[in-house]
Amino acid sequence: MKVEVFLSKGITKINVNDYKPLMKMNFNGKKADPKFIKMREEKINIDETSEGIILSKDLGVKEHVIGLGEKAFGTERRRTRTVMYNTDSFGYGYGTDPLYVSIPFFISVRDGLPSGLLVNNASSIVFDIGVEDYGKIKIEIPENGSEFYIIDGKTIEEIVEKLSFLTGKPFKIPGWALGHMISRYSYFPSEKIIKVVDEYRKFLPVEAVFLDVDYMDRYKNFTWSESFGKPEKLLKEMHKRNVKVITIVDPSIPVNQKYGPFMRGLGNYCDDENGNIYIDSMWPGRCAFPDFLNQKARAWWSDEIKRWIKKYRIDGIWLDMNEPTRIVDDKGVPLDPDAIHTKDDGTRVKHSLIHNAYPLFEAKATYDAGVKFILSRSGFIGIQRYAAIWSGDSVSSWEDMRLQIPLLTGLSISGVPYVGCDIGGFSGHSDAELIARYYQMAAFFPIMRNHKIKGGNDQEIYVLPDKFRGMIQRAVRMRYAFMPYLKELAKEAHEKGHPMIRPLCYEFQGDENTYMIDDEYMVGKDVLYAPIVEKGRTSRDVYLPKGKWYDPWKKESMEGGKWITSDNEMPLFIRSLKGKERILEALSEIRLDSNS
Ligand code: GLC
Repeated sequence: MKVEVFLSKGITKINVNDYKPLMKMNFNGKKADPKFIKMREEKINIDETSEGIILSKDLGVKEHVIGLGEKAFGTERRRTRTVMYNTDSFGYGYGTDPLYVSIPFFISVRDGLPSGLLVNNASSIVFDIGVEDYGKIKIEIPENGSEFYIIDGKTIEEIVEKLSFLTGKPFKIPGWALGHMISRYSYFPSEKIIKVVDEYRKFLPVEAVFLDVDYMDRYKNFTWSESFGKPEKLLKEMHKRNVKVITIVDPSIPVNQKYGPFMRGLGNYCDDENGNIYIDSMWPGRCAFPDFLNQKARAWWSDEIKRWIKKYRIDGIWLDMNEPTRIVDDKGVPLDPDAIHTKDDGTRVKHSLIHNAYPLFEAKATYDAGVKFILSRSGFIGIQRYAAIWSGDSVSSWEDMRLQIPLLTGLSISGVPYVGCDIGGFSGHSDAELIARYYQMAAFFPIMRNHKIKGGNDQEIYVLPDKFRGMIQRAVRMRYAFMPYLKELAKEAHEKGHPMIRPLCYEFQGDENTYMIDDEYMVGKDVLYAPIVEKGRTSRDVYLPKGKWYDPWKKESMEGGKWITSDNEMPLFIRSLKGKERILEALSEIRLDSNS
């Protein structure tokens, strides 16, 4: 086994067996001694087996492990065994693994000291954090070589910042994409969309509306169904109201000689083992799949997207089913592992070895077409350069709603700052209280979008009883009061890769209490939010870490380092009031339920 070590600015790169990674990281290090293969003082063992490479290290009895991207677990990822393999996970709940996004990266914290580890490999890596072997972290890589990085830093933030330096800065999110957005599978036809938007706007600002698959002619990308109505008119009406329009696009391209995009794309699809176009089942029927790993294919896709957004003045693209997924027995499963890609240098590679990187290159090709806002379901290391992520097909339940906090803050600290979920939950039934509390919980999520499955109950504010409409209005008004702060955080995310929402431990890494608190989150450095996430409750316990806190509803200051009980409708605590006068003024105009 050949192991090479390189060092630069607190980052150590380790290459095993001359591995050529698919993605080049932003790193230029000096050759160094293998003694540097350590996280803090703990040695990382590298073993070669017939199945691949295994990295392992000791797991301390009180060591914390956080990160690992989009995972359906609490913030603390100890005692989980998870696989990195993007998967369509309709109806997932706590413990479902894997989900849609794979980020092979974690941060370990021991005695308040953090250290990060990133595996630059797009195959199905397993992270076993003390499950198979109680006292060990084990990383199983199914290839005979790999590249990985150890990231040192004094704070969790420093490590996340270095991760973003390695993998690329988050794109610059437009201000409107931080506002309230609406969606439904599927608002149809176009006249109804205008009515929905107008009804919504009687109660809430609407920055964007998402068009789901039914706008297309039989699920064919870049087409409109005749019965949808004139797209030009819809776009004009929306833009008149200053509402952006975002259309869904799936990677599957129906095999049909009369379909322009398919014909123009010939020569740019994945192959099967015999060198023919790889064809599989997706919603439009028999489909080919663009080979986004290839520059020529990306250029063709960019052209298609460019033509589409220019012709209709589309404002954003929603990338779905891009794990990538095919349909087998009515279920979404990953593409055939034996499909073949052709890399830019002409080498051929099996899909299973690059599976996780597919959405990254799809998003890149879409971004290169000049799209200002992309919302993607799937992703990999680096996805933050091109797209925001939403957490896919969740279930409308209190438990799954609560899960969104550690799921999205976990993804945020793995280098992906722009994240959100389907407000209300995607499948299943949401009652008015759940919808209202969902809005309140997501009040500070970077992406705030209501979305629901076909045939599911309505989740629009205008169909709800007035009590719940009020709760939603207050949540959205609170968000808009904080808009200058959120925009500052988005700038910080773009410049430094810092997450916008954070688990408590990110800010208070030395406070052992914070690692298992999954129902509170930090918004940037200064705001702690503890939404009410249980049915029928009007108050809750809140842990306030050490420091001075200010309750803007009660207009009271208090000392942290303790648990308090809050009966505010949306328990909110601010650490530093500097520069927040405008926000406090805007908040003081909101009359909370409990204060009225
Ligand atoms: C997938 C998406 C969902 C969308 C549906 C139809 O399930 O995750 O958001 O509504 O496809 O396009």
